Amino acid sequence: MLRHEVVVVGAGLAGQRAALAAVEAGRDVAIVTKLHPLRSHSGAAQGGINAAVGAEDSVDTHIYDTVKGSDYLGDQDAIEFFCREAGPIVVEMEHFGTIFSRSPDGSLARRPFGGAGFPRTIYAADRTGLALLQALWERLGTERFTLYPEWDLIRIVVRDGRVQGIIAYDRKRGEFEEIAAKSVVIATGPAGRLYSRTTNAHSCTGDGVAVAYDAGAFLKDMEFVQFHPTALLETSILITEGARGEGGILKNASGERFMSRYAPHVLELASRDVVSRAIVTEVADGRGFTGPYGGYVHLELMHLGKEKVESRLQEICDFCRHFAGIDPVTEPIPVYPAQHYMMGGVGTNIRGETNIPGLFAAGEAACVSIHGANRLGGNSLLETLVFGREAGAAAAQYAVGASATTMRATDLDEAARPIRGWSSRSEGEDPSALRTEMQETMERYAGIYRNEADLLEGLRRIRALRSRFDRVRVVDASKVYNLNLTDAVEVGHMLELAEVILVGAYARTESRGAHARTDFPKRDDQKWMKHTLAQKTSTGPNLSYAPVAYTRWEPKERVY
Ligand code: FUM
Repeated sequence: MLRHEVVVVGAGLAGQRAALAAVEAGRDVAIVTKLHPLRSHSGAAQGGINAAVGAEDSVDTHIYDTVKGSDYLGDQDAIEFFCREAGPIVVEMEHFGTIFSRSPDGSLARRPFGGAGFPRTIYAADRTGLALLQALWERLGTERFTLYPEWDLIRIVVRDGRVQGIIAYDRKRGEFEEIAAKSVVIATGPAGRLYSRTTNAHSCTGDGVAVAYDAGAFLKDMEFVQFHPTALLETSILITEGARGEGGILKNASGERFMSRYAPHVLELASRDVVSRAIVTEVADGRGFTGPYGGYVHLELMHLGKEKVESRLQEICDFCRHFAGIDPVTEPIPVYPAQHYMMGGVGTNIRGETNIPGLFAAGEAACVSIHGANRLGGNSLLETLVFGREAGAAAAQYAVGASATTMRATDLDEAARPIRGWSSRSEGEDPSALRTEMQETMERYAGIYRNEADLLEGLRRIRALRSRFDRVRVVDASKVYNLNLTDAVEVGHMLELAEVILVGAYARTESRGAHARTDFPKRDDQKWMKHTLAQKTSTGPNLSYAPVAYTRWEPKERVY
């Protein structure tokens, strides 16, 4: 049996930052990850990272923008902490070697982003995530921890009221492994592949969140799913909000700059939920373009000029040219909203602690909650670093005080037996077919606009898929890189989370942030100013609710 003091699951920015904190605290640390760290989805983050630096901006404005953006569901104590840490942690990343874009005077360049009262998004062209990831990876240094690459998380072992370790699956050898650990940090990132249109990579299947839920962790606010307004038509590749921050504008099929009807003050730089709903409404009401990949609107950058577009939006140029055959310097970009981010996740406090002693979470897999009902662009990269560091430090501290773990040989067998059984079936369900049906169900019934009938139908379909998953069959008999098997593992995780999203969305009879109910179009602070908590039972998620933390900002109507 393998043994470490702290095991971090996931090697994106949150996981690496957690590992760095635990290493610096002197602990024996391992990272378990299904991808090589430099291929993690953090590297796909384009537009930038928020921090109120410079005399004209203020931390208070960043806090207020985040509270307002969250539609007053974010915990204000956590948001205050988060925004105060922003400047120092961005400077730390600069000192670690991140090559940020610069203003002519040499200071960190900043661009406007949606829902922000000041241009505070610091960037590295449109490859900010990649720039941060490379710098952090170099800083972490491979010799200071043990890496288990291309290992899937299968189970978190909880016994005697605390974490004892994990069971993982090594894709390269096709073997299950047991790792005893006093502390486990879940930093497995997004779950966007629950939807058919998503900006998320194929690897974003919510594994850590589902496994933590299975182990008894509370999931918080899972019904809040963010759709990014500008995904490239057909592929749903992200077209960064930085494109609008640099001056890009949205037009419908009549050439109208339609955002003036939805957000008269800030137009395209309203927050994401507002812009996404505006695009969907334009298309639904017949004012969009139509084509073989459905309705869409245009994002225009042509007026910005070749030099600006090609220097500030290098990846966007590449994506448009290679994946859509268009040149954004001279042609409009066809865009439509796609799932982008989960506001919900494993419920934690500011230190990344969950309801299970020894279990921590950070990054998109966690819900602290700072984003509440809607996240602001540029706050996600920041979240990975601030709360990755906090979770890693807390996990290290916990490991120092915890007694020896008590993993048993039977733990591995219990976790592996059902999965091994999938390969011995002579007939059964194809995981990829279940995945496609799940994605279409979530897209159709739990998307940007929701209502009771759709959510109930979505839930019925997801529950039927879960029953069919009980008979899932893995036909590939190979041990080495059996992607049929890992696909089945991921589909099981996503079906679990789909049910939680639908149950939470059905229960929340109001509209707030990204959760827009056409049958309950107003925010209802009297009844719903509270976090949803979901805990797994044998009959499905059991919902309870927790209060929102307030410090200084009274809820107001949210207007942009
Ligand atoms: O649009 C973007 O570049 C995405 C940023 C974010 O999600 O924070």
